[in-house]
Amino acid sequence: MFQRLDQDTGGALSRAVRVRDFQGKEGQTLCLGAPSDSLAQVQIIGCAPEDGADSKSEALVMEEAGGRAFRALEKSGYASEQGIIVVPDCLASYAAEVALGARLTSYRFTKYQSEPSKPVKTQRLSLVLSTEEAAEAALSRWTALQAVADGVFLTRDLVTEPSNVLYPESFKNRIEALKELGLDVEVLDRAQMEKLGFGALLGVAQGSEFAPYTVILRHNGAPSAEDAPLAFIGKGVTFDSGGISIKPAAGMDEMKGDMGGAATVVGLLSALARRKAEVNAIGVVGLVENMPSGTAQRPGDIVKSHSGQTIEVLNTDAEGRLVLADLLSYTAQTYKPALMVNLATLTGAIVVALGAEHAGLFSNDDSLAVALVQAGSETGEKLWRMPMGEAYNRAIDSDVADMKNIGGRPGSSILAAEFLKRFVGKTRWAHLDIAGTAWLDKESALAGKGATGFGVQLLDRFVQDHEAQN
Ligand code: BES
Ligand code: MN
Ligand code: ZN
Repeated sequence: MFQRLDQDTGGALSRAVRVRDFQGKEGQTLCLGAPSDSLAQVQIIGCAPEDGADSKSEALVMEEAGGRAFRALEKSGYASEQGIIVVPDCLASYAAEVALGARLTSYRFTKYQSEPSKPVKTQRLSLVLSTEEAAEAALSRWTALQAVADGVFLTRDLVTEPSNVLYPESFKNRIEALKELGLDVEVLDRAQMEKLGFGALLGVAQGSEFAPYTVILRHNGAPSAEDAPLAFIGKGVTFDSGGISIKPAAGMDEMKGDMGGAATVVGLLSALARRKAEVNAIGVVGLVENMPSGTAQRPGDIVKSHSGQTIEVLNTDAEGRLVLADLLSYTAQTYKPALMVNLATLTGAIVVALGAEHAGLFSNDDSLAVALVQAGSETGEKLWRMPMGEAYNRAIDSDVADMKNIGGRPGSSILAAEFLKRFVGKTRWAHLDIAGTAWLDKESALAGKGATGFGVQLLDRFVQDHEAQN
């Protein structure tokens, strides 16, 4: 492919590579203006990992190269509505990943801007491969990857929506619209949750004007409907003011994204439905708003959870764990899943510990933890396993109830995980604390500033591995 382009340009490409000493390292790009009559410009994107760089799967390197190619096109003064990426023969098997990277990088959220501040010029991007077989193989893989990209976009949209637009009921309505993908959607309203004994979740919701909902999405793709499902559970706090234990004003707006766990679950289930994954999966999201008001929960209140255990609410800002507590025990009991993975923007402390580079992983099952870490390193959504243990668990014992919802600052991300663990029983379980990774203040490899959609690709890969085993 390179040779052909090089010939068509009278050797301009190889000359430029030589003269400019282009090494083809990851992150390097070489731009040639008008190398022939028919080409406005050619950008050569390096993909060879630097020595000493973090090790990455080849698929991820190519996905990121696709993202860089897209950005290079956009930034150059020549960008037109039509872009072309020429995939060299030796990398043809990764063409679908290149397309995925380009697509993910093209995401914009412009619905509230009269003039988009970062408009996308490239409306159509074609990938060129040198044989028909390679093109067909890439295209058939693209169908599944496009489903994942759509899932990531849905998650990013939901996280970016402000809380006056996306509140529990409107979030629920958006999930119900996904029935058209073939997902089953079941809704539990306040009265049903009261009957089921969701005292922990309802306590969080009681200060808000907005009615709370639990929504259950189901994708049945396994050969047998009887197969125990994989369960994904998300914290969906559409705004977290902290409640009566109110947060400081600075940065409070970021708490519109406190439903990031639920958004990832919804994006994932939409991807599984779109790509017709051969697995049974359920998504369970608890949608509530955490507000201070005359009806709000008070510090010191004691609530009874779905599991029957009582909780002393010492800080109304430690609300995510209260929402998840009811969802976890309800899911374990009702659906008897093969395993449960919950996602939540749960603690500020995980941001202090791991920054934006890794999400925190907590689990009661070593093989599940290993599989998740592996899926994350393959998709570039990295997880770091955190410790758990009895001594941490003791820190949330209460003097007046079965437990309290906070236990002091030391190790507080771990204490939150220990709190959740009290509601999972014997089910294989993992908790992903995505507080540091769901929203970024600067551009990353495959996402602009803002919502990342963290976890959709990772969990889709995790599900794929599960499909392969059956
Ligand atoms: N939603 C927050 C956690 C959070 C912080 C997410 C920063 C994203 C960015 C959570 O509900 C919370 O308020 N956690 C408290 C817990 C504390 C009161 C024990 C925290 O982390 O400070
Ligand atoms: Mn909070
Ligand atoms: Zn929160």
